[in-house]
Amino acid sequence: MTEPVSSNTNNALVQKLTGPQLFDKIGRPTRIVAPMVDQSDLAWRILSRRYGATLAYTPMLHAKLFATSKKYREDNWCSLDGSEVDRPLVVQFCANDPEYLLAAAKFVEDKCDAVDLNLGCPQGIAKKGHYGSFLMEEWELVHGLINTLHENLKVPVTAKIRIFDDREKSLSYAKMVLDAGAQFLTVHGRVRDQKGQKTGLANWQTIKYLRDELPKETVFFANGNILYPEDISRCMENIGADAVMSAEGNLYNPGVFNVDHTQDKDKVFPRVDKIIREYFQIVKDCQESKASKTAMKSHFFKILRPLLPHHTDIRSDLATMNAKATWEEWEEKIVIPVEKVVEEIYQQPDIEDKDEITIGEMQAWGGSYRTVPYWRCQPYFRPVNGITGDKRVMQGLTDADMNKKRKADVPLESSGKTKEAKA
Ligand SMILES: Cc1cc2nc3c(=O)[nH]c(=O)nc-3n(C[C@H](O)[C@H](O)[C@H](O)COP(=O)(O)O)c2cc1C
Repeated sequence: MTEPVSSNTNNALVQKLTGPQLFDKIGRPTRIVAPMVDQSDLAWRILSRRYGATLAYTPMLHAKLFATSKKYREDNWCSLDGSEVDRPLVVQFCANDPEYLLAAAKFVEDKCDAVDLNLGCPQGIAKKGHYGSFLMEEWELVHGLINTLHENLKVPVTAKIRIFDDREKSLSYAKMVLDAGAQFLTVHGRVRDQKGQKTGLANWQTIKYLRDELPKETVFFANGNILYPEDISRCMENIGADAVMSAEGNLYNPGVFNVDHTQDKDKVFPRVDKIIREYFQIVKDCQESKASKTAMKSHFFKILRPLLPHHTDIRSDLATMNAKATWEEWEEKIVIPVEKVVEEIYQQPDIEDKDEITIGEMQAWGGSYRTVPYWRCQPYFRPVNGITGDKRVMQGLTDADMNKKRKADVPLESSGKTKEAKA
């Protein structure tokens, strides 16, 4: 890691924090809301922190647009972003031009704890726009982007990368990113092609290899394969990461970060009606944030995913909503109907038995699936080619992987089916 002694910002030399200093300053967070386009919006970050997240990233912002378009900035950033209700915060940009990246970052340097460069986005739009994981072959450019922020921004620069198939190449790449000046390194343990139907499992072995081989003082975040709070501690222990980042796990269940309350199902698998109401209220309280009102529909679909097949009328109504709908329409068409149907569920005489969470057997990937009632937030296992998530996970593990994993880091003990303590 290069020494961030000082940086020349507005002709004034500013003493910059190193990664470890920054990590200390923001309270050594261990549970991170991932950057998510249209989804890690202000209101969602506030909600996620209430449920145990200790650091949050903004969605990826397009550096050139942010630097040059007032409208883009107004649509994606407001005075509450990065304010005292929204810290600690890392603002993420995608970029392929150091000048635009620096100009964009200057707009937010006083409203965040660090600025992150997205080097992981694998989507077609990133290929077309020449950013994210499509810079993985252009090390000089990546170095220049990071180094420009390292030398000219008041706050530290950080980076989020994907891995290559070849772990030695992944290590050299990570070293280059650190050498350019990145003070936190987040490693998403998937290669660029692992997206959509080919998403599959993140490779914790490669993440761990990087952790072990990089300088010990590197502030290192692991990303991928988090379904339940228990996976967070398992990930930190197995990999030796300083913190764990979650995207989809957090989106479908903000309770995934509630590691200190694993016996309290209302905190770990909150009722969907409670989360919908709470999130709706935060979005209303943050009316200045256009991004949050736009994101609400998609958040509602994800939170309500297990409930909607049982209440298709709510699904149809939600499909008709948009960011222009009034607060009253949102409340009357969605929030109140959800509350009503869940309240009815709790009127059943045998609800105590029905409202149970069961833990399945230990799986080869090192954790266990839970069975969660459909009125509670829960992880989503995407079906791929008609194969449900848990079967896919098993298929994705070759025998060799399983043996390696058993030896390397999995305390394989058969837990059988047990009932989790009730709240
Ligand atoms: C809806 C969504 C939006 C995402 N947007 C971004 C983004 O803006 N920047 C980024 O670096 N990664 C983005 N990602 C990738 C995640 O940050 C994360 O690296 C990936 O989903 C793996 O983590 P997970 O297994 O916890 O989902 C996004 C992922 C999802 C699901």
